[in-house]
This record gives sequence, structure tokens and C-alpha cells, in this order.
Amino acid sequence: MGIFGRVLGIIILVFVVFQFVPYGKEKTNPKADKSLEINAPKNVMVIFKKSCYDCHSNQTKWPWWSYVAPASWTISDDVKGGRAALNFSIWNTYSPKKQQQEKKGIYRTVAGPMPFPQYTWLHKGTKLTKEEIKTVRKWASNGKGFMKTSIR
Ligand code: HEC
Repeated sequence: MGIFGRVLGIIILVFVVFQFVPYGKEKTNPKADKSLEINAPKNVMVIFKKSCYDCHSNQTKWPWWSYVAPASWTISDDVKGGRAALNFSIWNTYSPKKQQQEKKGIYRTVAGPMPFPQYTWLHKGTKLTKEEIKTVRKWASNGKGFMKTSIR
């Protein structure tokens, strides 16, 4: 076997070993109680469901590659972190103050960092259009179209 064969063999072996690492295996969709879910106007909900729900709800659609290490490790982290920061499935359990804070966060992130590029690159059509950003920001600012958000 030549050097390339050996290197390829090692790469495949490492990849196979990766699959046995007991991390990122949990692909949960905790039971979602409809009455606790956010109830924004339909045009806003469509955008959230399309571009945010995979990480910010209990209704994650886990793609096949989320079961393959090493992708599975980062994807399960993204969903865990996303749900912890903002979970639309339990929005109604948030206090009015927390909802207002989340709206600020949404207003601030929706025009740039969210959803992040690794995701929009793999999921066609999830990047928000200018129009969609406007729609979400209008909702987040309670119809005003503008809100002050300080950078934390
Ligand atoms: C691929 C997963 C993923 C998608 C899709 C996604 N997010 Fe996130 N989001 C995260 C993660 C992970 C965090 C937590 C980041 C952290 O804690 O540093 C986060 C954090 C946030 C936060 C809190 C950040 C802050 O600084 O206040 C808001 C608000 C947010 N996301 C809004 C959205 C909105 C709105 C969408 C859809 C337009 C969206 N996200 C789509 C993964 C995602």
C-alpha cells in the first residue's frame, strides 16, 4: 500500500472512531405544549418557523448529517445553546420583561448574526431577505419599526 493509501486508511479509521464518541447523540424534541408557543402574526411566524425554529424551538428538524460525527457534535451544541437563549416553544412561560428583552435580542440579531452563515449555507432559503428583516423588526419593536438596543 502506498503512502496515500495509508493516509486514506487512517482518515477513514479516525472517521469511524468518531462515530463511537458518546457526544452529541441526543437529538431531542421535548414535548411542545401548543399553549406555551409564541403567537405572533402569521407573516412573522412563517419567518420564525422557516429560519429560527431548528435551533430556537422544540421542533427541530434534524438533518441526516446531524447524526454523523463530527457534524453531530456542533449541531447538538447549537440547538442546546439556541434553546437556552431563546425558545419559541415556551415563549408564554417568559415574563413580560423577559419577552421584551428577547424582542430586543431578535431585533438586534435578525439583521446580521442570526441565523448564522454555516446554517443558511446548508439550508437554502433560510437567510432572511431585507423584506423579512423589516417584518420581524416591526413586530419586535411592537409596531414602531425602531427600537433602541444596547450592545451587551
Ligand atoms: C443554527 C442554529 C440557529 C438558528 C437557525 C438561529 N439561531 Fe439564534 N442562536 C443560536 C445559538 C447557538 C445562540 C446562542 C449564542 C450564544 O449563546 O452565544 C443563539 C442566540 C440567539 C439570540 C440571543 C442572542 C443575544 O445576544 O441576545 C437571539 C435573539 C436569536 N438567537 C435569534 C434568532 C432568530 C430571530 C433566528 C431566526 C431568524 C435565529 N436566532 C436562528 C442558534 C441559532
